[in-house]
Amino acid sequence: MAFDPLQQRGIPLDEQLRDWRELNVTPIDPDHADPYTRCRIITMNGIETEAILFSHQLARHCPDLEIKQQLARVRYVEAQQQKAVNWLLPGTSSVLETTIAYEQVAVDLTAWVARMEPDPYLKQAYQFGVLEDFDHLYRYANLYEMIEHRKAEKIVDGLTEVMPGRPTYLHHRDPLDNVRQPYDRSVTEPLSRLHALTVMAAEQQTMNFYMNVGPTCMEPIARQLYQEIAMVEEEHVTHYESLVDPGESWWEMLLNHEYNECYLYYSFMETESDPKVKNIWELHLNMELEHLRLAADLFRRFDGREPDQVLAPALPPPVTFEPNKAYIRELLATQIDCTTLGTGYVKEAHERFTRMQEAVMNGEKPASERVIDDNRAISGREYRLETEGPHPAGLQLSR
Ligand SMILES: [Fe+2]
Ligand SMILES: [Fe+2]
Ligand SMILES: [Fe+2]
Ligand SMILES: [Fe+2]
Repeated sequence: MAFDPLQQRGIPLDEQLRDWRELNVTPIDPDHADPYTRCRIITMNGIETEAILFSHQLARHCPDLEIKQQLARVRYVEAQQQKAVNWLLPGTSSVLETTIAYEQVAVDLTAWVARMEPDPYLKQAYQFGVLEDFDHLYRYANLYEMIEHRKAEKIVDGLTEVMPGRPTYLHHRDPLDNVRQPYDRSVTEPLSRLHALTVMAAEQQTMNFYMNVGPTCMEPIARQLYQEIAMVEEEHVTHYESLVDPGESWWEMLLNHEYNECYLYYSFMETESDPKVKNIWELHLNMELEHLRLAADLFRRFDGREPDQVLAPALPPPVTFEPNKAYIRELLATQIDCTTLGTGYVKEAHERFTRMQEAVMNGEKPASERVIDDNRAISGREYRLETEGPHPAGLQLSR
């Protein structure tokens, strides 16, 4: 039987509060946990963070006291969920280890979404973006080897390859070229709305993470690399958020947010290998079902429409963390040299792109290039994890 969150009963809002003891979850074991369990935790932290931030924005635009109070009650629960989820990460991981896990999320989540996305224009947006986060993973993995003397395979565990993508210095585009066309809310597949929200939320938390942890590093190359990649994550948030139809009402957006939370908790409950973490996904799903019911009531009341006019009749197949090596290799072979022009894609460096490159580079090599040179000088070669053979775009390992 297909799972329809609109037909399910969740936990009443009054019973969703947790005490400190309950929020004090046991973190996963960094040495033995499934890397994809960590990816699911990071994804849900991004989703809960977006739920909180979105609810604040809605409240700031909401003149009705009673609705503001209801939003505050649900938001408090979202904030507790965020704590329970993110506190599953172990305190023993370094910032750089968590960073590498963030880029693994960006690679395997975006690749999955690209594979499943029915709309060709949206699919292209995910395919374009994934090759950039794939390159970030490679740059950070080299930084990691250089300053922590460890190898990124300890973190990604051979599930995700580590090698050059579209080189990071080529990600610095004129901001104008980062804005995409939105889907049309009146004709889009419900799945496309969920995809756009999910990837936007994941990129937003990556942006927030780098802009805050970057200056906590001591090594100049690390500080500079975080600064450079944090600017790219800002571009990624612009890129993905512009896919969402801005004509959706606040209530429609709220409905989509709560539905997407149901979809992802359900997906991760179905695919989780760690039983303790799975229990959290299940508990949170049961909370989200009630959030969804409340959002559906507001949507009916203020938009005068039925939720099933915008939502899918049942949940799509579960979002699954799994290796996407062949898919990424195919994209590397065909799309590594793409850039954007206006709301489209081109293969040549155009004038606006070149001007932006000159403005930010000013004739010098950026940190994303120097980190590879520096690691080659120290380790005798750059760091890569090519489990499926040589690089598909001919970017061979140089010594
Ligand atoms: Fe939530
Ligand atoms: Fe990234
Ligand atoms: Fe990104
Ligand atoms: Fe929620």
